[in-house]
Amino acid sequence: MRHPSLVPLSHDHHHGLALALRCRKQALGQLKPMGAAGLRERAKELVDFFNANLIAHFRAEEEILFPLMRTAVPGSAALLDELLGQHEQLRQAVPKLVTGSGLAKLIFDVGDLLERHIRKEERELFSLFEAHVDAARAEAVGAELKKILNEGGREG
Ligand SMILES: [Fe+2]
Ligand SMILES: [Fe+2]
Repeated sequence: MRHPSLVPLSHDHHHGLALALRCRKQALGQLKPMGAAGLRERAKELVDFFNANLIAHFRAEEEILFPLMRTAVPGSAALLDELLGQHEQLRQAVPKLVTGSGLAKLIFDVGDLLERHIRKEERELFSLFEAHVDAARAEAVGAELKKILNEGGREG
């Protein structure tokens, strides 16, 4: 079971994985509406999800969780650098989704990247957190994460 401090992040991950799957299906023509209209719909959904959830989510990870892990688990540096690089790639995709050219490939690639990123955090980062961070520290981090995640006025 997920550590309670990580549950709000996992909640976003759950929604992110569902969206990533819709993106890949859309790009492959397996989701209605087909063609340009469907691609524009998915692009908008991605941009909306980014603005409503991922901006605060990335901030919570980059300001609270990743620095803690860098200190608590010295062996996690390479993983953290890779995750940060993926955040940057996802951020850079947003203006392209708004511009809207070459959407099929872009939406497929963003869906693929988002899924790989989330699975890496869930399987590798969160497992390291649960194995190495002591209870008191984990609880404190959970409160700090929640604070940032709730600043956007969204739920849980
Ligand atoms: Fe992340
Ligand atoms: Fe995440």
